[in-house]
Amino acid sequence: MSAESTEAIYDANADRWAREERVLLSDFTARPFVVDELGPLAGAHVLDLGCGEGYVARLVAKAGAASVFGVDVSTEMVQNARLATPIGGSCVTTFEAGDAATLTHFTRDTYERVMAVFLFNYLTRAEMTAVLRTVRARLAPGGRFVFTVPHPCFPYMRAPSPPFFFETEGWSYFAGVDRTYEGRIWRRDGAALPVRCVHKTFSDYFAALAEAGFSALPKVVELKVTDEHVAYDRAFFEPLVGFPLHVLFRVEAT
Ligand SMILES: C[S@@+](CC[C@H](N)C(=O)[O-])C[C@H]1O[C@@H](n2cnc3c(N)ncnc32)[C@H](O)[C@@H]1O
Repeated sequence: MSAESTEAIYDANADRWAREERVLLSDFTARPFVVDELGPLAGAHVLDLGCGEGYVARLVAKAGAASVFGVDVSTEMVQNARLATPIGGSCVTTFEAGDAATLTHFTRDTYERVMAVFLFNYLTRAEMTAVLRTVRARLAPGGRFVFTVPHPCFPYMRAPSPPFFFETEGWSYFAGVDRTYEGRIWRRDGAALPVRCVHKTFSDYFAALAEAGFSALPKVVELKVTDEHVAYDRAFFEPLVGFPLHVLFRVEAT
């Protein structure tokens, strides 16, 4: 485990995460799919765990959500979320600093939608299971939870190089579980941001969902660079063509 805390890393880089339009690789390859899977959002009350500087919360607000409650361990990211220009009309947004694994304060008893966009790659299996229990308790009847994580196989498929990588430091796919893999993800303007992946196998996600009481099979989407991405910016996206980058899970309240 690296000595630097996740909170310190995000506090130090919060201004480089702040953005009002698609900039990061995953703003193209992951976040639009999250918003699609969360929809319809009109009138929904949304819980955003690991909200960062609120980029996805703003998209959800724009899609018509009634409220978004975002929580993030980095006070600087939360500060930027509060300062960002709102784009959601009447949506009530609340951002607070806190650890999603031990969260006890909420703005409501239940939420119609919950999202965790690249949160679980900062948590151990046990911490992720604790969050999943919280999500299950807070999902309104008929509600939906969408989360994304780096694809568990991706760190093993490609040598560390732009525009996205994690370093496995010699740990194997199975022995590396709960080990922290440091990585980088690029913005289209050439800046690289530090990210990390507390490694889990594919089956770990299914086991944790079941342990937390989600009994229905999740919808699973393996996200990748598409032809549209390559047409938009060939030099940036082409190195990743053909690799599974992220996984999106969508589960319904049962
Ligand atoms: C890759 S960023 C994603 C931010 C946002 N969800 C997005 O998609 O733009 C991961 C975020 O998770 C936050 N995070 C990591 N561990 C956390 C924890 N235990 N509780 C709450 N937030 C956490 C980090 O501070 C960071 O802002």
